[in-house]
Amino acid sequence: MQKRTVPFGTITITDTAKRLIGEALESKRISCGKLVREFEDRFAGLVGASEAVAVSSGTDADILALAVLHDFGAQQGDEIIVPALSFVATGNAVLHAGFTPVFVDIERATLNIDPTQIEAAITSKTRAIMPVHLMGKPAEMDTINAIAKRHNLTVVEDAAEAHGAHYKGKAAGSLADLAAFSTYVAHIITTGEGGVITTNNEEYGDILRSLRSHGRNCTCKRCIMNTDEVTYCAKRFRGKGGEDVRFTFDRIGYSCKMNELEAAIGIGAMEVYDEIVKKRHDNLIHVLERFDRFAPYLSTIKEEQYEQIGPHAIPIIVNEGAPFTRAELTQYLEKSSIETRTLFASMPTQCPGFAYLGYKLGQFPNAEYMGHHGLHIGVHQDLGIEDMEYVLQILSQFIKTT
Ligand SMILES: Cc1ncc(COP(=O)(O)O)c(C=O)c1O
Repeated sequence: MQKRTVPFGTITITDTAKRLIGEALESKRISCGKLVREFEDRFAGLVGASEAVAVSSGTDADILALAVLHDFGAQQGDEIIVPALSFVATGNAVLHAGFTPVFVDIERATLNIDPTQIEAAITSKTRAIMPVHLMGKPAEMDTINAIAKRHNLTVVEDAAEAHGAHYKGKAAGSLADLAAFSTYVAHIITTGEGGVITTNNEEYGDILRSLRSHGRNCTCKRCIMNTDEVTYCAKRFRGKGGEDVRFTFDRIGYSCKMNELEAAIGIGAMEVYDEIVKKRHDNLIHVLERFDRFAPYLSTIKEEQYEQIGPHAIPIIVNEGAPFTRAELTQYLEKSSIETRTLFASMPTQCPGFAYLGYKLGQFPNAEYMGHHGLHIGVHQDLGIEDMEYVLQILSQFIKTT
């Protein structure tokens, strides 16, 4: 077998992106402006949402989507229900938005929040449920939205890993009240670093634009001063007695705008978005459909008929009874030039930062299992079926040698 290199992630920087970056540098207008607006428009179109607000990371997207709730009466310390298993940013974001995360275990088969355990976690302080479409596999949104409706809660999708995912005919990002994407380099639409919040609620859009810029009163979807060659904006002077509202701060905000150079990379990537998603999805399905051969030692996720998994990565779980550990498998893959990442950890019980919340090891058995036995590897657009075959062969070889 010929040795191959299977890196975890990649970035596609198109000629359009390079041209737009050059033009932005030439014009000296590189902070959030017309390219960010164009990126937002296109992103909203892809997701099927009326609003997209670009920010500087997926974590900021999570934070802002939740911080919107403060405009509607949510108090510091109110509770947000999140799955115990996710990249740690999900839990961090809840705290940075001024809330308390309340964790619910996941299902092993889907890696997503277990909908049957959500209602037991709801209290009088619960304000929202934030499911994560982990590894691009959509969470069980029908059940989650129905629970939220019964209890008058907001639902925020953490769709950081779910570009290109569909659930019952609708795109991730349009399945709840708000959704937060990461456009970090390993993701499908990438801006290098970045994130986007999508929503169909215009008022949320205005609040998000205010939040990303210190909470200022200026919230226009298209800022004519940033995007057009104008120097005077009449709307700016709508304060009492014609005062400038640009330095009126309506709420406690953040500083997390996307910049023009990042947006240029994202606009370029969108030209080849369909190709990227297809290539990655073909890679993913090639492996998922052949994964049964590793039973009973390894398992992964499955794509159901009513969904399309957003092809973010391939999760691999070492099952009970396997004659090897995750560390041994990881090292074998890495020595075979297949880059790996762990499948995260139970935030409340395996990430020390959350220890102060008082959860005890054993409370989230499925998430904790993944914390010890899960890993994930790349499916990106610079890889092909030959690379996926290489991965399958290396896994077979490893199992034979143990
Ligand atoms: C599920 C999830 N949420 C949030 C984030 C945070 O995104 P970022 O790294 O862009 O801040 C990530 C990162 O990839 C993620 O996987």
